[in-house]
Amino acid sequence: MLDGKMVSTKVLENIKNESVSFIEKAGRPPGLAVVIVGDDPASAIYVRSKERKAKKLGFRSEVISLGSSVSDEELTSVISRLNKDNNTDGILVQLPLPDGFDTWKYLDMIDPQKDVDRFHPVNLGKIMLGRTNIYPCTPSGVVRMLDEFNIDVSGVNCVVLGRSYIVGKPMASMLTNRNATVTICHSRTKNIPDILSGADMIVSAIGSPGFVKADMVKDGAILIDVGINRVDTREEAEEFCTPQEIEKFKKKGYAITGDIHPEAFKKSSFYTPVPGGVGLMTVAMLMDNTFRLFMERTGS
Ligand code: GUN
Repeated sequence: MLDGKMVSTKVLENIKNESVSFIEKAGRPPGLAVVIVGDDPASAIYVRSKERKAKKLGFRSEVISLGSSVSDEELTSVISRLNKDNNTDGILVQLPLPDGFDTWKYLDMIDPQKDVDRFHPVNLGKIMLGRTNIYPCTPSGVVRMLDEFNIDVSGVNCVVLGRSYIVGKPMASMLTNRNATVTICHSRTKNIPDILSGADMIVSAIGSPGFVKADMVKDGAILIDVGINRVDTREEAEEFCTPQEIEKFKKKGYAITGDIHPEAFKKSSFYTPVPGGVGLMTVAMLMDNTFRLFMERTGS
């Protein structure tokens, strides 16, 4: 089991130790600004967790909460203020934006040098070309876990499930740049089980509980589960969740599961659990990206 708690703790401790001398030299801490629009409860939880982690590292954390009726001018002016603010190294617009907002318009507006998510077209382009070493947080967390356990993907047949710009596309580029042979599958792909059955490694980021079943995966495959799915019925919990999560369901009325069925993990050589896997890495890599942008901007 690739333990996300262990690796994310290590990443955060490294940042904490490494940052002390750089903060002293720069005369200020790294600054992360998070813009959240509307009242999506899951987004609110994510943003709070980002703020807590940033503060714990001694970073400057600014959260700008805007109502879903915020005007285009107002949101634009918030982003341009942050672009100019010398104490802000990383800017993140929490996604999804409420219905009706032109997401790319605002992501394009973020100064690419402060784009901590790396979703700006300039940065996504650099990732494809292998011309940057700062990556979107979730795929970066996956690679960091592989590195921690010395898993070399060179020549490995990797199937990436999902083609979002948040995970699937940058993940596929990063694995390709590491000499993996990558197949991307998505909602229109035919015969996904056939494609999965030939995979040495599967990275799943589709948000479908237990989608990858044990009979679809090869013995000894590396299984990386990026999905974080909440299930609210006992039937679903019993069908898709680990025994620990089924217990949690009995107490709390909900449980969490990934895209990969727990039975499939039994056939793997390495796997990331849900919860306790890639999810914990995402916030840790966000802090790592913030620190890297700080170092770039302060010339460290
Ligand atoms: N919503 C879900 N994942 C992400 C992410 O990685 N970045 C941002 N900004 N919003 C998200």
